[in-house]
Amino acid sequence: MITFNSLLSKLTLVALVVFTCHSTQIVAQNKKAATTEKKDPQRFFDKADLMQIGVYYYPEQWPREQWDRDLKNIKKLGFEFTHFAEFAWTYMEPEEGKYDFKWLDEAMAIAEKEGLKVILCTPTPTPPAWMGDKYPEIYLVDSKGNRRQHGNRANISVTNEKYREFTAKIVTELGKRYGKNKNVIGWQIDNEPLSTEDFSPSARTAFQIWLKAKYGTIEKLNTEWVGSFWSTRYSNFEQIVLPNTEVYFEDKLSPHTILDFKRFTADAQASFLNDQAETLRKYTDPKQWITTNFTNVTYDSDPRRANKMDFITYTMYPVSGQNNLGGDNFRMGHPSKIHEANDYYRSINGVTGIMELQPGQVNWAGINPQLQPGTVHMWLSQAFGGGCAFTCTYRYRHPLGSSEMYHEGIVGNDGVTLSTGGKEFVQSIQDMKLLRKEYDPKAVLPQKIANRKTGFLWSHENLWDLENHKQTKHWSTWKHRNTYSSAIKSTGAPVDFLTEEDNFDDYPFIVASAYQLIDQKLVDKWTKYVENGGNLILSCRTGQKDKNGHFFEANWSAPIVPLIGADVDFFDVLVTDMKGNIKSANNNFQWNTWADVLSPRKGTEVLATYEDQFYKGKAAAVTRKLGKGTVTYIGVESIDGNLERQIVRSVYERANVAIENLPSGVFVEWRDGFYVGVNYSNDAVELEIPKGSKILVGKNPLQPAQAVIWK
Ligand code: GAL
Repeated sequence: MITFNSLLSKLTLVALVVFTCHSTQIVAQNKKAATTEKKDPQRFFDKADLMQIGVYYYPEQWPREQWDRDLKNIKKLGFEFTHFAEFAWTYMEPEEGKYDFKWLDEAMAIAEKEGLKVILCTPTPTPPAWMGDKYPEIYLVDSKGNRRQHGNRANISVTNEKYREFTAKIVTELGKRYGKNKNVIGWQIDNEPLSTEDFSPSARTAFQIWLKAKYGTIEKLNTEWVGSFWSTRYSNFEQIVLPNTEVYFEDKLSPHTILDFKRFTADAQASFLNDQAETLRKYTDPKQWITTNFTNVTYDSDPRRANKMDFITYTMYPVSGQNNLGGDNFRMGHPSKIHEANDYYRSINGVTGIMELQPGQVNWAGINPQLQPGTVHMWLSQAFGGGCAFTCTYRYRHPLGSSEMYHEGIVGNDGVTLSTGGKEFVQSIQDMKLLRKEYDPKAVLPQKIANRKTGFLWSHENLWDLENHKQTKHWSTWKHRNTYSSAIKSTGAPVDFLTEEDNFDDYPFIVASAYQLIDQKLVDKWTKYVENGGNLILSCRTGQKDKNGHFFEANWSAPIVPLIGADVDFFDVLVTDMKGNIKSANNNFQWNTWADVLSPRKGTEVLATYEDQFYKGKAAAVTRKLGKGTVTYIGVESIDGNLERQIVRSVYERANVAIENLPSGVFVEWRDGFYVGVNYSNDAVELEIPKGSKILVGKNPLQPAQAVIWK
């Protein structure tokens, strides 16, 4: 007799077989390859061009009779390239297997005639309606169990085999048709890959396969996931469900499962991008580059996993409703966004560019204010200073309808009149013409600046684990990172973001903020770095857990204790609105979010002390000499970041390295012989521009929302 349960298990088995057929196998992406496998991506760009500037145009969104006028005007304004075919799948493949590129051929021909180079895109965030109609399994399933549907974008399941087949076909068609086109400079794969968690059957099967490849045996997985807790162990991989916080009344899923799911989701996204790159490369000319464009700070996606790109670009919208520095800063944007993105994305493979830079007022934030005049030009100048090979903007024309109709472009609703942002783009295009004349290929980074060179150690896996296990709702890993990156930037130091595999020797200073997941190999590498003369700065939470998010069977952060020369007795967090006091070098600071309470060992100097709570008098930050270098551990997160700023700066000073004293929101970069200063603050600032320098763009004192470039 067939019981209900045996029927169910038979059905599950059948379902699993079916799912297996429709799911793509995701393997862990080799993060190291990004920097080792490829030839220098700088070969795609002439250094003397400095930064090229371009703009998106969507021919399919405008009447055919306007294309010639629009592309002619784009060229007339001085833009050097345009960007086509993003999201246009329904025009490229109007019916299954029937391709139509006539419209794109025409637009390409006009661009070429006008002397505009082209970036082409693969349209994979937006499948045509027929596809979803016929194969609804191509859509992602969200955590509430709802299948996404047609009518938006980024709604697809990257583990679905059918979707991957359609993707491979359209990418092949594009590659065959335009891969040898001399006017195409490069390719953007997909758009703003997000690594959204997918709860579809194909994702579940792919996750099971990924786990099997990672752990080999179910016993090993049960040990790592601590299956002894709450009966959560599994008897085989096929039982494993996707960790979905929506279906539990308590938000207490195993953090190890969640960390693996994050890793898997990022790998799935990366394999989708990497496969597209490999397909394209079969047809493209070696002079065409391949990239993808991540959002400025991406949480679920890990850009380094997309290691088949030639380099990674980013999209940047700094003004989105917040006011970090008060006053008019809400019109100039988050002060850390552009410098962090420049440094982060450039560090991945030596080259980056901005694929979309906000051109003006947008539509999608909670609050969408006007920009302070000057802001777009300031951002473009900062993109240049931060090393971008190009900057492009979304979009040329202000849309007259649909979901982004409140989004400004380079020209306004009439399709011809420049917007304020449009004028500022033209201003930067003119700047580039001037700077190219002043370019000196022999310029080398001045020693004074090289002495401050700082590596920022970063791993998305830390971010995922910290954000999943916050311990206080006030913890924000991004805010914590911004605090440190701003403190470093206040010294005028050039910054590269590093991974644990990178060589630390080039960097007199290395900062690892809240670097929670560690192993002995990393601790040994840090120790050797310091003994050889490096200056290492670590912040709270560092070293609490092993790589899979377990505590060590020892005192808090035991593996780093010999390195930092202090015991971490315990940590504390305060309730909302309560402020703890700290004293450091006779200055007072306050904290709320995190406090590691430290006991210095012999030879370790205390830099900051808790002034209240039951641990009054205990150390909050310490430093020590080790070999030829120093280690500084800042165990507390201050409310305004000023404590971190003071201590970070003191590390450079104690190392006798000359530093700048740039106010909050003011940044100076050096690139190819040019200095670029920008000001996100509310006050004018007089920069130290040495006598004899030539100011090429802007003025000193530097007004808010302005840029100054000198050499
Ligand atoms: C970006 C996106 C663009 C456009 C833009 C609007 O994040 O990549 O396609 O939607 O936002 O600001």
